[in-house]
Amino acid sequence: MWTYHKSCTSKVRLDNKVAVITGANTGIGKETARDFYKRGARVILACRNVEKAKNAIEDIKNNLLSSTDNNSHQGKLGEFAVYPLDLCSLKSVRECAKELLTIESAIHILINNAGLMNSIHEKTENGFEVQLQSNYLGHFLLTLLLLPKMQSSGPGCKIVNVSSLSYILGTIHFNDMNLDRSYSSLKAYSQSKLANILFTKELARRLKEAGISGINVYSLHPGYIKNELAYQYAGAICPVPGMTFFYHYIMMPFMKNTIQGAQTTIHCAVDEKVADETGLYYADCRVTRLYRKGRNNQMAKDLWDHTCRFLHLEPNDNFSTFLKSVSLQLVK
Ligand SMILES: NC(=O)c1ccc[n+]([C@@H]2O[C@H](COP(=O)([O-])OP(=O)(O)OC[C@H]3O[C@@H](n4cnc5c(N)ncnc54)[C@H](OP(=O)(O)O)[C@@H]3O)[C@@H](O)[C@H]2O)c1
Repeated sequence: MWTYHKSCTSKVRLDNKVAVITGANTGIGKETARDFYKRGARVILACRNVEKAKNAIEDIKNNLLSSTDNNSHQGKLGEFAVYPLDLCSLKSVRECAKELLTIESAIHILINNAGLMNSIHEKTENGFEVQLQSNYLGHFLLTLLLLPKMQSSGPGCKIVNVSSLSYILGTIHFNDMNLDRSYSSLKAYSQSKLANILFTKELARRLKEAGISGINVYSLHPGYIKNELAYQYAGAICPVPGMTFFYHYIMMPFMKNTIQGAQTTIHCAVDEKVADETGLYYADCRVTRLYRKGRNNQMAKDLWDHTCRFLHLEPNDNFSTFLKSVSLQLVK
């Protein structure tokens, strides 16, 4: 049996649950949305391109079966909503959070899925390197803004951070996180994906320390998917033209389609087996041991403080007080 394409086997229903998925108009996010919809959830697509998100919803409704289906998800279908979210704009992150907090009565699942790889060194309107903000900083802020609502929606709430195995190539460049001194897309992408993992660990630790139960945090590698992002990654890892083809030739048997790529996300969000786990890293629907840099508690703490400074948040050892101060960002 091919072991790199594990599927989520849980038949758990998500009736009356609200799930927010960033970057859900395509790829892994869209397949995650399709799965949650079939489980009966209210699925919120938080996307920068609203038209594309609406098209994705149409497509999901018209094509409900996926190749992993064995008629396991029988029952009432869920519903969809679209909220605009551009993670490269902190204003947009705040506006999206504000709307979600105002309109939605609860949030049970947050999937921080959106991500990109950028070949050129660009800055966002907030002055951060694009991958750093879209893949990490934007999700950090969104998560903290939504946490109080999740707290009141619990127990059983889940935050899932979609990272990548490429974290092993990453370092947190504390003195130059925007990579102004030396940029490569691989360096920026890997840094942002390592940051996703360290954020997961540190958030889980802080929630535990504050005695906040009922919200579990997960990070994961979805596998390598046959899509544009993976092609960009291959190009970055093997910048020599012939080598990119060679890399693909080698990687092809290990690559997944988007349905397979969504399975670990779905597993973390719904499977009863992971309900008591938090702060861990997953691949192929199971807990996976991180390499040393992903387990570095001090780096996770330092990154948290650094990120707070970037986002003008006052770090505070009392997590509840800290969350209240973060919420003040909504009135900006
Ligand atoms: N593909 C792989 O092989 C692979 C491997 C490891 C990890 N991952 C991770 O898996 C996640 C999903 O990747 P995927 O393969 O499904 O990629 P994808 O098909 O390219 O989808 C990425 C999604 O992120 C959205 N996005 C990008 N920048 C955004 C921003 N500033 N604000 C809001 N949304 C934004 C995109 O929106 P638009 O449609 O508007 O561009 C799109 O919906 C990413 O976090 C990625 O790093 C992927």
